[in-house]
Amino acid sequence: MLRDVDLASPGSVEDPAEYFAAAMETGPVQWSDAHRGWVVLSHAEVEAAFRDDKTLSADRSRSFRRSVEGKGESLERAAELLTTWMNFRDAPEHTRLRQPVKGAFTPRRVNALDSAIQSVVDEVIARFEGQTVELTNDFARPVPALVIAEILGVDREHRERFQAWSHDLAQLVFATQPGVTPDPSVGQASDEFIAFFRRLVEEERKHPSDSLLSTIVHDTGTGLSELELIGTCTLLLFAGHETTQTLIANAMGMLLERDDLVAQMRHDPAIDETAVDEFMRVVGPARSMIRKVAIDHERGGQHLKKGQTVYLAIAAANHDRSVFPDPGTVDLWRDPNPHLGFGWGPHYCLGANLARLEARIAIRTLLDRFSEITPAGSLTPLHGGVVGFGRRPLRVHLTA
Ligand code: HEM
Repeated sequence: MLRDVDLASPGSVEDPAEYFAAAMETGPVQWSDAHRGWVVLSHAEVEAAFRDDKTLSADRSRSFRRSVEGKGESLERAAELLTTWMNFRDAPEHTRLRQPVKGAFTPRRVNALDSAIQSVVDEVIARFEGQTVELTNDFARPVPALVIAEILGVDREHRERFQAWSHDLAQLVFATQPGVTPDPSVGQASDEFIAFFRRLVEEERKHPSDSLLSTIVHDTGTGLSELELIGTCTLLLFAGHETTQTLIANAMGMLLERDDLVAQMRHDPAIDETAVDEFMRVVGPARSMIRKVAIDHERGGQHLKKGQTVYLAIAAANHDRSVFPDPGTVDLWRDPNPHLGFGWGPHYCLGANLARLEARIAIRTLLDRFSEITPAGSLTPLHGGVVGFGRRPLRVHLTA
C-alpha cells in the first residue's frame, strides 16, 4: 500500500504494474499531496472520467487569457489562438471545433496516407550517415513532423522551419501556465507561425488541394473562423508530433532492451497491429491527462470539489489487473487491448489511427532494412514525468 501516489516517481516508470497495483489498494480515486490534486487510477474510473465532460472540465480558455494579461500583444494573440484548440474546450464549443477535423480524419483518408508515410520513412532512413545513428533525434523526431506537413500540404522548402514550430508551440503552451514568466521569443515565434498558417489557409481557400487540411477548410457544416482554422493547424502539429515521436522512440527503446521481442517481430510481421497497441499500453506517450472539477460530485468514493485538479492516470489504468491479465508482461499479441493511451469519450484522440499507422510503418521498416540494430554503448534509462516521458537518446549501430 502506498501513502501518496506520485505519477512522476521512478517506481511508476520502472515497474508500473507493481507500483499502481500497490497504489490501487487504497482505492480507485485518491488525493495526492505530491500533485495537490485527485488522481484517478483504476481503468473503470479513468474511462468514466474521460467520458464525463459535465462534472469534469477540460476548458483552459479563461486561464490562458488570464495568464498573458499585460504580457504584450504577441502573447495575447497567441493565447487567443490556444482558445481555439478543441482539447482545451468543453461542449458545445468543443463539439463545433471537433466536427470538421473528425470529418477529415476518417479511416479511409488515414489509410490512404499509407504510401505517403512509407515515403517519409524511406526518406528519413536514406539520410542516415554511416552505421551509427541516434534513433530518437534522427528517426522518431522527423517522421511525425513530416507526416503532418504532408497532411497540411506544407511544401518542401518550409518543412525544416515547420518542425521547429512544434517546439515553439510547446513553449507557448508552457508560457501560458499560471505563474510562468514567458520568454519574449515565444511571442515572436508565435507571430511567425500564425502568419505562416494564415497563408497556408488562404492558399487552400483559393486553390483547393486534395490534402486533409483542404477538407477541413472547405467543411461547410460548422464554418470555422480564420483564427480557428489557423489554430487547428497548430493543434494538429502540436498534438501529433511530440506524442508520435515518443511512441516510436519508446517502442524502439524497449526493442533495444528485449531481443526476445525483436525475435517475435522478425518472425511474424502479422504481429504489427497488436504490437503497436501493446507499446501504447506499456510505454504510451500520455501518462496522464488533466481536468478541473466543474461541479462538486462523488467519484470513486471521494468527494471532489469545484476548482480542484484531477489527474486521469492513463499509465495506472493501462496496468489495471482487473482488465489486463498479467499487466507487467509485454505481450505483443495481446488482444483485446482496451488501453486508454489515446484517451476515451468526447476528447478521444482524432489522430489515433494515424499514429498507429505511422508507428507500425516506422518500426517495421527499420526491422526490414537492418538485420541488426544494437545499442552503441549503454542505454539511458526511460524517465517519466506526470504527463509524459523525457527524451531518451537511443544511439545504435545498424547492420544492413
Ligand atoms: C502516439 C501518438 C498520440 C498519442 C499518445 C495521443 C494521445 C491523445 C490523447 C490522450 C488525447 C485526449 C486528450 C484529452 O482527453 O484531454 C488526444 C487528443 C487529440 N489528439 Fe492525439 N495522440 C497521438 C497522436 C495524434 C496525432 C498524430 C494527431 C493528429 C495529427 C492527434 C490529434 C489529436 C487531437 C486533435 C486531439 C483533441 C481531440 C479532442 O479534444 O476532441 N493525436 N490525443
